[in-house]
Amino acid sequence: MKGAAGKKAADALTRAEAERELERLAAEITRHDTLYHRKDAPEISDAEYDALRQRIDAIEARFPDLVRADSPSHKVGAKPAEEFAEVRHQRPMLSLQNAFSEDDVREFFERVRRFLAIPAEDPIEVVAEPKIDGLSASLRYESGVFVQGATRGDGETGEDVTRNLKTLEDVPETLKGRSAPEVLEVRGEVYMARKDFLALNERRKKREEPPFANPRNAAAGSVRQLDPSVTARRPLRFFAYSWGEVSDMQAKTQWDFLQKLKSWGFEVNPRAKLCEGVDDALEFYRSIGEARAKLDYDIDGVVYKVNRLDWQQRLGEVSRAPRWALAHKFPAERAQTVLNAITIQVGRTGTLTPVAELEPVTVGGVVVSRATLHNEDEIGRKDVRVGDTVVIQRAGDVIPQVVEAVKAKRPKNSKPFVFPDHCPECGSLAVRPEGEVARRCTGGLNCPAQAVERLRHFVSRAAFDIEGLGYKHIEAFFADGLLRGPVDIFRLKDRADALREREGWGEQSVANLLDAIETRRKIGLDRFMYALGIRQVGEATARLLAKHYLSLDAWRASMTEAQDAESQAYQDLTSIDGIGPSVANDILAFFAEDHNRDTLDALAQELDVQEFERPAATSPIAGKTVVFTGTLERMTRHEAKARAESLGAKVSGSVSSKTDYVVAGPGAGSKLKNAANLGVAVLTEEEWLALLDGGA
Ligand code: IVH
Repeated sequence: MKGAAGKKAADALTRAEAERELERLAAEITRHDTLYHRKDAPEISDAEYDALRQRIDAIEARFPDLVRADSPSHKVGAKPAEEFAEVRHQRPMLSLQNAFSEDDVREFFERVRRFLAIPAEDPIEVVAEPKIDGLSASLRYESGVFVQGATRGDGETGEDVTRNLKTLEDVPETLKGRSAPEVLEVRGEVYMARKDFLALNERRKKREEPPFANPRNAAAGSVRQLDPSVTARRPLRFFAYSWGEVSDMQAKTQWDFLQKLKSWGFEVNPRAKLCEGVDDALEFYRSIGEARAKLDYDIDGVVYKVNRLDWQQRLGEVSRAPRWALAHKFPAERAQTVLNAITIQVGRTGTLTPVAELEPVTVGGVVVSRATLHNEDEIGRKDVRVGDTVVIQRAGDVIPQVVEAVKAKRPKNSKPFVFPDHCPECGSLAVRPEGEVARRCTGGLNCPAQAVERLRHFVSRAAFDIEGLGYKHIEAFFADGLLRGPVDIFRLKDRADALREREGWGEQSVANLLDAIETRRKIGLDRFMYALGIRQVGEATARLLAKHYLSLDAWRASMTEAQDAESQAYQDLTSIDGIGPSVANDILAFFAEDHNRDTLDALAQELDVQEFERPAATSPIAGKTVVFTGTLERMTRHEAKARAESLGAKVSGSVSSKTDYVVAGPGAGSKLKNAANLGVAVLTEEEWLALLDGGA
């Protein structure tokens, strides 16, 4: 609520008004701090928040004797995003591939076996341990002393929470014994035990503070406290399970490393077990499943890790997850509730998605009022009708789903749901191409839902990450014609007057927004590619593309050429590990459209799209193009390709003048001849491995 003083400029306030206004602002800022930090549910943009703080500063500057003891201006860290310094992880913090069934787990073991060509009779040992539902952290020790603690962040860059993590009893200040490596980064999970979580919420209730939804949120909120003394009062614990940079790796297996961690003074999950093979691992999963309810902490599955570290290294990673580890999730939690309505959402690519509007119900500790119904066929197959009692489920961070309708509870007069054949947003025809499950609006960018969703995606965290340009603003700017497409964002500076005239936008908040936009003109190639919102090009695929093409110009040129499916460029695109024909077609379809190419050109004018930086440019094969041919004897073809790519090389299927090396095994044919004709260096497998080792 704004009083009369709230509308007046700071220098027009009387002394009495200033006093009231400072009191009001202090309360308001405290409320927004709570919403942001404790509840992760901010109600205002960072720009608006900044404007509040600036108003306090201006009033306090005029009436210094009115500065309140509880004034927010005393608190450190004004701007949420800048509260913690960034920490670039020396080695990325990866995520895990998920498995939901025993079959998935058996497949994982088979994949490992095939990749490494392990004979069927040899066991694959894995370490199995509970998957803790907390947040991961990395602890850096130098000469045995804790020097830095960081959150995972986006896996590449986290937040510096050293002072907060220092307050944890499970985080040793100094390592035990003398054997620890000079540099040691220990990774693990920060979590809150259930009983501590319940007690904490009791205390919060007594103080009339909002309770945390679950132990995970409580742990995450506590680690990201600005004031370490607050963290210190929160009962946080830490299980160590992995590592980042290590100057001297003294273990040969995952299991040995866990023993080392214990000897250095870390808590390692006492239930971790070395398993002989897949049956043993699945047995572990079942027994943990049974023990789950009795454990003192929340877990959401079991993690299996290939025990031998030399095998882990050979297996490497794909799409930000190691090939040598797997998270076997517990089944989702379920509940029943009533389906009040089915609404249709239009996504940024025009897909019409049916959404179940539910009578709110608690599932696995979270209140759910909407769930996805996936698509038209799914509704038909399950025969879900408005008014039905439905079973819904939630698994981890996955969007809640409608599993089935409880037919016995169906109201008498219910009718099957008829899926609309027109877009509910723009009225255009919605069509369903043969063989596809999705019905799509044909309105393109004339459909406001698509345009707004695309813009929203464009500025989202993993894309341009423009602070202060939230969904509401995009919708409003779009409605007023200030924004039509992504390029307009970077031309907003020419419309500053129109912005200032908007309700709730002052000089300062406009300046803040324009500043935030300016800082984003420079952007990494992978983020840029992801921001374009091409179907099936998520963050991981964008990274694969960026890694492969290195620059925007190279990518654009290659995609133009690849429109011809017979071209070398097309082959090149589909040879990227992780990019199949379907993804390739979506990328090419994007480039086939004039308006998309125009948008790209216009964006290129406004932006500085950085060339992709390879993580390990020190590798002797970084940037080289390699062709494998013939039979390889020391590794599988798949492994050879993965390893080369992880060291920054491009693996191609055919020899051309751009090829740097042809690695030829026995039985090599025409490619070898081509190489000779073109004067391309030909290596044996041994020579190739020697080359890799020389620089690895
Ligand atoms: S291993 C490269 N082990 O699960 C190895 N992760 O879904 C990466 N997690 O980000 C992680 N318990 O935060 C590992 N015993 C465990 C874990 C565990 C929980 C979390 C971790 C990771 C997430 C991936």
